[in-house]
Amino acid sequence: MRQWGMTIPKHHPNRMLRISRTLLSLTLTLSATSPMAAQGPGGPGPAPGGGPPGRIIPLRDVPVPQPGGADKYIQDQGALIALGKALFWDMQAGSDGRTACATCHFHAGADHRLRNQLASPANRSVTVTLNRVLSADDFPFHQLANPLNNSSEVLRDTRQVAGSAGVFERVFRDILPQSEFEDGASGSGSAATLAGVKLRQVTARNTPSVINAVFNVRNFWDGRASSTFTGATPFGDSDPNANALVLVNGDLRRESVHITNASLASQAVGPALNAVEMSYSGRQWPKLAKKMLALTALGRQEVSPDDSVLGFMANTEGKGLRPEYSYALLIQTAFRPEYWSSTTLLDAGGKPLPEAGAAGATERYTQMELNFALFWGLAIQAYEATLVSGESRVDRFLAGDTQALTPREALGLQVFQAGGSQCLGCHQGAETTAASFTNVFRAGANPNNPGSHGFFRTGVTPMEDDIGLGGRDDFGQLLFALGRPGNANGTFKSPGLRNVELTGPYFHDGGQATLEQVVDFYARNGDFPRGGNLGPGIGRINLNNAGSRAALVDFLKALTDDRVRFERAPFDHPSLCVPDGHVETSPGVVQVSESDPRFALSGEDKWSLVPAVGRGGNAVPLQTFEELLRGVGSDGSRAHAMNQACVP
Ligand code: HEC
Ligand code: HEC
Repeated sequence: MRQWGMTIPKHHPNRMLRISRTLLSLTLTLSATSPMAAQGPGGPGPAPGGGPPGRIIPLRDVPVPQPGGADKYIQDQGALIALGKALFWDMQAGSDGRTACATCHFHAGADHRLRNQLASPANRSVTVTLNRVLSADDFPFHQLANPLNNSSEVLRDTRQVAGSAGVFERVFRDILPQSEFEDGASGSGSAATLAGVKLRQVTARNTPSVINAVFNVRNFWDGRASSTFTGATPFGDSDPNANALVLVNGDLRRESVHITNASLASQAVGPALNAVEMSYSGRQWPKLAKKMLALTALGRQEVSPDDSVLGFMANTEGKGLRPEYSYALLIQTAFRPEYWSSTTLLDAGGKPLPEAGAAGATERYTQMELNFALFWGLAIQAYEATLVSGESRVDRFLAGDTQALTPREALGLQVFQAGGSQCLGCHQGAETTAASFTNVFRAGANPNNPGSHGFFRTGVTPMEDDIGLGGRDDFGQLLFALGRPGNANGTFKSPGLRNVELTGPYFHDGGQATLEQVVDFYARNGDFPRGGNLGPGIGRINLNNAGSRAALVDFLKALTDDRVRFERAPFDHPSLCVPDGHVETSPGVVQVSESDPRFALSGEDKWSLVPAVGRGGNAVPLQTFEELLRGVGSDGSRAHAMNQACVP
């Protein structure tokens, strides 16, 4: 067991940041009289003392936020990170036995697939061509006669979304003994079919990167992953249930979970049961737990013996981790025994069963299985908290190495931080986002302004298409209940911009393919100028100088950390087969899969290999989205060119 402590450095005490609820409410109360109170949504947040918002500093100077109140559950941080990395990359977690978190977050923490990635969300009357391969000509989705004038003639407005393909629409029946596949039935819902053949469903928003997401107080584009983790759902205190089972003096008791600074744990328990992303509809946590605990960790995937976290456990004779490093062992090592050691058999609600035969084999559970959502959330959060990319050339430049940036990149840094571009108003500090702990918890912020929380109205899509932070969570609570009603409508989380070169397409709708297109969007002060879609921050932007725009793009590309670009530790990972659209027998005719007779008429997947990589990384850089669109790098000069076949 000692190896965990040796392989993975524990969190350094001086990298601890604990923000208590008391401090939070104190900050918010004090700031109610801030001069920024009058500012509407969309305005850049103010800075400490009312000066300009925080300039960019090296990311290593910012402590990694630590969850508050997690020590009660955790006993070994190294094992926790290992468990989180294995779960995040394990394809067996999806109901189809083939969909991992990483399926949509494999590329610099995001997704750059081109095929079958278009969604036409239900509230928009658009039809997209299914199984389409995106091309450079498709971008931007909102195309204007003059890209520098948002009132010029609209040449095209597709209102589609470039999202991420998840699972087929199916209804959950049960798990199957010792199998990663689950039993289910074909869903009868509205999922997309092509000539009667079902295709994988696609998310209604673009996939953001998990790298540096630990710095966001709230996650998701609409912030619905609460900063408080309550153990089973993403929605924090909206969830009234006592979601953990604790062993006290031999008795199992229900206990409420309340972990602060834990948005990533809240987030992680969302996709696992989501019927578009990973799950057949109706699957519940105890079933997923029972399935995963019976399987070899990463049993369908290669793990490099050089993997910075999992390497010493890798099965060098086969796939996945060696059988002795089971999920159960990782949980037992990472978490305190009062959360997993009871051997009493329970029903799904946690009540002891009178006798072993009182319920079917897949209907009786252990304490470990019933606490699995808690373990899942905390472990994945701990892994993601290691994905911090603070070694870009911009960081070196800011730390005093004046040669680290070219003159044009250095000019771009100036443009980014100057008033004309307004970039810093919403993308401030080392984290390059106003949604960071540093920004949200500073003194003087008006809590009623979504901008103080890093959410802005920038007119990427019309408000009626996606209301963002103005929406409600699954318990019916407003995602943002402060200030004037409706003041959060159409606001979205300002994303961090590190490694943005590698994470196209951009914005919550994935409607821009290149950083040049993004900068043009800002230069024209956003899209959809009528209907209140534009907050004040975006209206003040002045980027009329073509040289400044070009320098800005160069600067954004200098925010890439080479460890991300080459997938060096901590960004190394197991192999993954990614479904990259469906096989077509002739254009528009999808081949029907015959692999599983239970599900009628499903499209045959086209699998693409994301190879395993160890701590030293790849010899070639990751391919950008733009390069993939243009076919650059398919000769082996880029990693993840999506042209290696894979047999899952
Ligand atoms: C089918 C694709 C898909 C899968 C599978 C998936 N995600 Fe995501 N992920 C997305 C999309 C799309 C979003 C943005 C959704 C939104 O904001 O409404 C997202 C958002 C996130 C974010 C928020 C980042 C930010 O800046 O707000 C994190 C963190 C994340 N996912 C982690 C995970 C984890 C952990 C899992 C597995 C438990 C997972 N994802 C599974 C597509 C996926
Ligand atoms: C008023 C606040 C605001 C200002 C000013 C602003 N941004 Fe943004 N930025 C956002 C928000 C909010 C998003 C996400 C919008 C969405 O997807 O709906 C975003 C998204 C982006 C993205 C896409 C990132 C991704 O992963 O999809 C880039 C790149 C970007 N901004 C760069 C800039 C630059 C460069 C400037 C200065 C010219 C700038 N921003 C000015 C708020 C702002």
